[in-house]
Amino acid sequence: MVKASAPGKCILFGEHAVVYGQPAVACSINQRMVVELEEENKFDSWRLDGGILNFSKHPHIDFLKEKLWPENVMPPLKIRIRGNVPTASGLGSSAALSVALVAALQQLRQEEVDSGIAGQLSHQAEAFAQGGRASPIDTATSASGGFVVLSDTVDETLEHIGERSLQHRDEVTTWQLHSFVADIPDDTYLVIGNTGVHGSTSKQVAKVASLLEQHPERHVEIEAIGSIARRGIEALRTGDMESVGKAMTENHIVLRSLGVSSPELEKLIKAAAPSSLGVKLTGSGGGGCMIALTKNPEKTVGAIEMEGGRAFISPFNSPGVRIETLSSQDNSTQ
Ligand code: MEV
Repeated sequence: MVKASAPGKCILFGEHAVVYGQPAVACSINQRMVVELEEENKFDSWRLDGGILNFSKHPHIDFLKEKLWPENVMPPLKIRIRGNVPTASGLGSSAALSVALVAALQQLRQEEVDSGIAGQLSHQAEAFAQGGRASPIDTATSASGGFVVLSDTVDETLEHIGERSLQHRDEVTTWQLHSFVADIPDDTYLVIGNTGVHGSTSKQVAKVASLLEQHPERHVEIEAIGSIARRGIEALRTGDMESVGKAMTENHIVLRSLGVSSPELEKLIKAAAPSSLGVKLTGSGGGGCMIALTKNPEKTVGAIEMEGGRAFISPFNSPGVRIETLSSQDNSTQ
């Protein structure tokens, strides 16, 4: 049996503006998805969590099976999926699952587990599962852990960790991925507050697109988010948490003016603000999650929960994809 895990992510700066070429910054969170695989000689099909795996309902798994066993001589496998990344909340649970699955498959095939390859293959799997389009930020952050910057050009001031291209119909999109080391004091945490409302990413992206079409002058707001993101990166690198928090709140104000916040998000953001250095929505908005940068994580969690949100604390720099050692409990299930 093999077991691998990979973290979820949140976007610190730059959601929506990244669609128009501005940089976006994401970081790993400490909630993870865990995948266990076991070769299964009793059956001739793949099994998922006890039942026969219906590949049409699990396009990520289908894609990876075709990619890794193109000749179709794959061994029957038993897959078990666990994890505590909330689904459909903008925290990259599906990307974390794909990344952990690639690593577990690499281990099972006795290949070297490589976070770059895991990031690349899982990005393709995500794109396949989403009908051809997916930005690589979720899979790259989940694979490498720490901080990842996505942009359309190479930024010489950051560590360039790779390029990703995706062809969708006749259009090829290329992204540049970077990482950097943030100097985060030990007493500073992220608190993530979940509204429990599922926002639709495609609807939110379309909303911003139509606003910009009707009011092209509002592209200045997209550029403003880009410069806030660049300022945020600098503040993270120098460990200036007050400036990081300020940049997050400014980023949120612009997102709100673009119309992608929601009453539920605003309620949690208002509750978290007094105990935080900065607060914003994270991801596509319209629901999903908000984040707070705070030195009083328990107080911030309490304030969010008082308003009906579900909140958890996440330290920074959670490790990327990794192979987990099997516990005696895991072995006893064999
Ligand atoms: C969603 O997590 C982030 C958006 O910027 C969409 C995208 O980048 O594809 C809203």
